[in-house]
Amino acid sequence: MNRIFFTLVLIVMMSGTYAQKFENLALTPPMGWNSWNTFATNINEALIKETADVIVESGLLDAGYEYLVLDDGWMAMKRDENGRLYGDPERFPNGMKALGDYIHSKGLKFGIYSCAGAETCGDYPASRGNEYIDARTFAEWGVDYLKYDWCNTAKLNAEGAYTTMRDAIRAAGRPIVFSICEWGDNKPWEWGKNVGHLWRVTGDIVNCWDCELGHGSWTSWGIWKIINMRKGIRKYAGPGHWNDYDMMEVGNDFTDAENRSHFVMWSMLASPLILGNDVRSVDEETLNTLTNKEVIAVNQDKLGIQGFRFLNENNIEIWLKPLANDEWAVSFVNMKDKPVNLEFDWLKHEMKDDLNNRSVETGNYTYEIRDLFKHESIGNTAKPLKATLEGHDVLFVKLTKTHP
Ligand code: GLA
Repeated sequence: MNRIFFTLVLIVMMSGTYAQKFENLALTPPMGWNSWNTFATNINEALIKETADVIVESGLLDAGYEYLVLDDGWMAMKRDENGRLYGDPERFPNGMKALGDYIHSKGLKFGIYSCAGAETCGDYPASRGNEYIDARTFAEWGVDYLKYDWCNTAKLNAEGAYTTMRDAIRAAGRPIVFSICEWGDNKPWEWGKNVGHLWRVTGDIVNCWDCELGHGSWTSWGIWKIINMRKGIRKYAGPGHWNDYDMMEVGNDFTDAENRSHFVMWSMLASPLILGNDVRSVDEETLNTLTNKEVIAVNQDKLGIQGFRFLNENNIEIWLKPLANDEWAVSFVNMKDKPVNLEFDWLKHEMKDDLNNRSVETGNYTYEIRDLFKHESIGNTAKPLKATLEGHDVLFVKLTKTHP
């Protein structure tokens, strides 16, 4: 009797070890590059290697962009004779392991894509029914990050399907950041924390300020549509488990001002910062934005608190994000495409984050105001902040307590 009891306890304990995601990954929002927004399924070995080289040479890796993620379209149209996925032999002639080795040799991490359905969104073979063999294959190739999509899943239960892949990754034994991509359809923020490290909250992004683009059965969304789509989800984000507002469109035909605003908002949302542009042809101003260490530091703040809308006044969106050491990030985005004047009296507003019980104590303290694009102090909170914001531009500041 005792033996049966202890065997049962042992089995339960062992299954417990498997039934967990890898912890201590993505303790700050993951940063990297993904092929989809610019290249869709037109990806190949030369493009990926050139991208890896440029990420390193341009300073993007130093700024924190470490995951190089191949999205849909890398795989051959059929599994091999052992039922394993492999890279399209024409586009990836040296195979995925060699490509992963190259990516690692550059000091980057290797990300790959699959899907919970039998086929990907681009109709390539995917992982349904092959989760364990695919997770083992990815682990053998040295994969560090798996984006796992949701096309062709019929009536699959989302939490169940993603949990199966989580367990398969665990069983394969290599710590892999698990990126849930089911577009927010099944409220992944409610169950994703124990399953993956980030979850997409909307359908696909498109490079416009606030448009919707219909594609028949689905729609893609401009950046402000994405920002505004889900209410009340910030409480689900934190170290190791993030709301993912999709790969960025910074550098994809936006004005410099729009690039700045988009980047600031993704930082305020504590969203993963995944580049979606062609880094080989990035212009200097866009690169300056993307490598702005002070903005990135807001996104990567160790508290991992997602920011929130504080006010929308006079066409200016004002957002707050509490940071470590009682600092705050504050963004002022001009929603109009013409200049507007900003005048913000710190002493007349009660700036509070009820969820985290934190407040900007302008009554008791003066805060120094640092402009995170000019990289200098622009005064303090004793006086109203005055500025002219160009169309769709942002003023992005950090508040630091100076004295009572
Ligand atoms: C879905 C995802 C995108 C991309 C494509 C690939 O639409 O949401 O991010 O991965 O599939 O086909």
